[in-house]
Amino acid sequence: MTKYNFDTLLDRKGTNCLKYDALNLFFGSEELQPFWVADTDFETPEFIMEPLKKRLNHPALGYTFRPDHFFDVIREWQQKRHQWEIKNAWITTTPGVVSAISNAILAFTKEKDSIIVQSPVYFPFFHTINGLDRTLSNNPLKRVGNRYEMDLEHFEQLAKEGAKMFILCNPHNPGGMVWSKETLLKVGELCVKYDILIVSDEIHSDLIFEEHRHIPIASINKEIANRTFTLMAPSKTFNIAGLSTSFVVCSNPKLRSKFDKMLNTLHIHGGNLIGNIACEAAYQNGDTWLDELMAYLKRNRDEAIALLRKELPQLEIFVPEATYLLWLDFSHYGNEKEVETRLKEGAKIALNKGSTFGEGGEGFFRFNYGCPHQVMMEGLQKLITEFKE
Ligand SMILES: Cc1ncc(COP(=O)(O)O)c(C=O)c1O
Repeated sequence: MTKYNFDTLLDRKGTNCLKYDALNLFFGSEELQPFWVADTDFETPEFIMEPLKKRLNHPALGYTFRPDHFFDVIREWQQKRHQWEIKNAWITTTPGVVSAISNAILAFTKEKDSIIVQSPVYFPFFHTINGLDRTLSNNPLKRVGNRYEMDLEHFEQLAKEGAKMFILCNPHNPGGMVWSKETLLKVGELCVKYDILIVSDEIHSDLIFEEHRHIPIASINKEIANRTFTLMAPSKTFNIAGLSTSFVVCSNPKLRSKFDKMLNTLHIHGGNLIGNIACEAAYQNGDTWLDELMAYLKRNRDEAIALLRKELPQLEIFVPEATYLLWLDFSHYGNEKEVETRLKEGAKIALNKGSTFGEGGEGFFRFNYGCPHQVMMEGLQKLITEFKE
C-alpha cells in the first residue's frame, strides 16, 4: 500500500505555468501536449503546501531569514540520502542553481577565461558562460552505445590550455547518467592537478533509481572538496521550481567567503520567504514521498521504454539512471527539422529539441515522463502513431 497518489490529473493551464501556458510562445501552438520543461505534473505534496498556506494566513510578507533548523534539515538530508557528511556552515543559499553558476563565474573568473562544459548538456550552462563573456571550452561527451562517457584525454588538453573552471552536471541532464565514483575521481584529480575550480550542478541528485547511487563529487576526497561548489535544490524533486530556492555547499572557507561576497554584492542572498519554508518542509518530511515518487517514475520509465522499443524499434533510447527525462535519438526518422515538424504537426506533442543542448545533441529530443502514467501513455501513443512505419 502506498501513502501518496501520483495518478491525480492536474489542470495546470491558466496558472502562468511555463510548460502549459507558454506553449504558443515556444512552439507556436497551444494545441500541443507538453512533455518539455523539466518540472513534473505531480501535486506539490501536502506536507509542503500546508505550512505555506499557514504562513500565507499571516497578513505580512516582509523580509525573511533562515533559522538554524533550515540548515539542519539540509545537512540531515544529505547524510540520509547520499551518506554525505556536511556542516551547516558550509551551506549558502541562492535563488537558483543557474544563478549560483553565474555567481561562481563572476566571483572566480575574469573575462575570456576558459570554462569547461560537457555537451550535450543543460543549455543555460552555455548562456551563463557566453553572457558573462567567458570562453566556452567544450569537452563533448563520447557516446558509447546508448550512454555517454567523459572524454578525459580531451578534458586534460583543455586543462593544459588553461581552463579555470569546470561546470559538471551530475546526474546528467539530458543523458540521465549517474556518474560513477571512478569517473568523478579521475575528472576531479585532473581539476586538482591543473587548479580548476569545480562547479557541480547536482540538482537532479535526489531523483536516482534504486540500482544507482548518487555520489557528490565533493564527497570523494578532501582535495577535490576543497575546490568544489556543489549546487543543489529541492525544486526538481518536490515540484517547487517556481519558488526559486536552492543552496550551495562548499567546505573551503576561503572560497565560500568569496562566493558569498559576490552574492551579497548582487544582493541576491536574502532568499524567498515562501521558498525557504517549502525547502525546510520538503527535507524535513519528504523521505517516504520521494521513495514512492521514484517507484512511480521507475514504472513510467520502464513501461515507456518497453513500449517504444516494441513499437518504434528504430528509435535509440538512453535508459535514464536518474531524473524523469528520456533522451531519444530520432536520427533514423530524418533530420532534426523534419522530426521537429512531425512532432509538432503530426504527433502534436512538445519535446525539447536536442541541438539546444549543444554539440552532440542534434537528432535527439527529450521527453519528460514526470507526469501521471495516463498522461505519459497519451503522449507516447501520439508519438507512436506518427512515427510507426
Ligand atoms: C541540470 C539543471 N540545472 C539547473 C536547472 C535549473 O535550476 P534553477 O531553476 O534552480 O536555476 C535545471 C532545470 O531544468 C537543470 O536540469
